[in-house]
Amino acid sequence: MDDRIEELRAKREAAAKGGGEDRIAKQHDKGKMTARERIDYFLDEGTFHEFDQFRTHRNHTFGMEEQQIATDGVVTGYGEVNGRTVFVFAHDFTVFGGSLGEVFAEKICKVMDRAMEVGAPLIGLNDSAGARIQEGVGSLAGFGEIFQRNTDASGVIPQISGIMGPCAGGAVYSPAITDFVFMVKDTSHMFITGPDVVETVTGEQVSFDELGGAVTHASTSGAAHFAVDDEKEALDEIALLLSYLPQNNVEDPPRVDPWDDPDRRTDELANIVPKAPRKPYDAIKVIDELVDEGSFFEVHESFAKNIVVGFGRLDGHSVGIVANQPRVNAGTLDIEASEKGARFVRFCDAFNIPILTLEDVPGFMPGTDQEHGGIIRHGAKLLYAYSEATVPLLTVITRKAYGGAYCVMASKHIGGDVNYAWPTAEIAVMGPKGAVNILYRRELEEADDPEARRQELIDEYREEFANPYTAADRGFIDDVIEPGETRQRLIDDLDMLLSKREEKPSKKHGNIPI
Ligand code: COA
Repeated sequence: MDDRIEELRAKREAAAKGGGEDRIAKQHDKGKMTARERIDYFLDEGTFHEFDQFRTHRNHTFGMEEQQIATDGVVTGYGEVNGRTVFVFAHDFTVFGGSLGEVFAEKICKVMDRAMEVGAPLIGLNDSAGARIQEGVGSLAGFGEIFQRNTDASGVIPQISGIMGPCAGGAVYSPAITDFVFMVKDTSHMFITGPDVVETVTGEQVSFDELGGAVTHASTSGAAHFAVDDEKEALDEIALLLSYLPQNNVEDPPRVDPWDDPDRRTDELANIVPKAPRKPYDAIKVIDELVDEGSFFEVHESFAKNIVVGFGRLDGHSVGIVANQPRVNAGTLDIEASEKGARFVRFCDAFNIPILTLEDVPGFMPGTDQEHGGIIRHGAKLLYAYSEATVPLLTVITRKAYGGAYCVMASKHIGGDVNYAWPTAEIAVMGPKGAVNILYRRELEEADDPEARRQELIDEYREEFANPYTAADRGFIDDVIEPGETRQRLIDDLDMLLSKREEKPSKKHGNIPI
């Protein structure tokens, strides 16, 4: 018996070495951790349970039968993060460049199936040369099986991707379907076709980083939600993100012991938000003041900065926050902001996370770029996402709420549960200047002193329409509240709304404008 145990231990030790010491050294030289080092760092100590450590490929072409490496290039299993179960797979670049063949894909599918069955998040750590060339269509079939599972798991368990090396070709579509993508600066790349192919096909010269580096995807394409400095930061941030999320779509998000006074007044907000309607301010300062101290965790920080999304806590409860950002393009909604907001709202709704919307929006962005780019259908995504959401929706209009954008930003009419406005709010079809120019064009042309008359009319309009009281009179706003009492009110309302249940008509699925 002892021999057999020794044999097992030796096999395990060999499997743990992946592609061998030389390739591990190469991996370290590139500033990258190995698959096992990543898992060890990520999971609570001693909690990793590995599956399929002894699996190898079944390939007999290109001399592959001579190269059998246990694990076949991906380390899979389950463990805990802060005491909660998660499933993981980590590509092992030291084994055939982490390329994906049939067995490799079967291993990933097994953890995906388990994660779905038990209802626990799935974290994929990607570092792979893509489809294993020697396995041909078998590799492509493997990708397809994974994509199908990513799609089935979407909205059932949180799926998070860490990109920690190359991720190219069809391989990108697994992370693309997952809920959150973290990329490590300098060492990770994602693209459909690399710089060489780009140059051959289009003549364009572009570096790896420019084409598909972390910063490019986090700020320009939006394909990554986070660009971080190193792998440890990525893993720490994934763990922090998980702390806001439920394990699956039938659980509520976990509440942590609150550390901030629920009755804390937020009078400082009156100084942060300027009275002058066109003066910019930082929406993040408003969020930080409202949520439990230090709890705001921003998502997609560098993409579509005119809207801010992220998670925070109110009296220990997890909430998703969506805020127009008046500091960037006056907080207008454009194509990218609409997509960013819509995807975040849908995530929160799928996972029972209440949404707090902070609204200060002059409208949708005008211009041919936007119209020809499809602002109508992209803007409709945000509207659709809020309209279909059944989680508690709490909305505070801090200043401007103009036109269609008023309707879109979780208004009462599309399901807002609690809708507040501050006394500084202006709820109208458009801003005073635009409205006066349209309504009184002829009168202004004929006036002796058009500028003086325009100012008079603007003042009249503001008095009549640019305030929250007309909306409050209709019940579209539940109350006009002081900035200072906003946190208390939101916490009380959230507490009241936690038991909210709303059923929508049953259907196969909707047809969100995509
Ligand atoms: N299938 C099978 N093996 C592959 C592979 C693939 N697609 N890509 C790389 N490998 C192997 C290499 O043969 C090498 O094996 P070795 O360690 O036994 O020498 C190992 O993986 C590492 O590759 P290498 O090219 O030395 O690493 P690198 O860091 O210099 O470059 C890539 C990494 C990913 C940029 C480069 O390997 C590459 O371009 N691969 C092809 C990517 C591709 O087109 N995939 C198909 C897209 S779906």
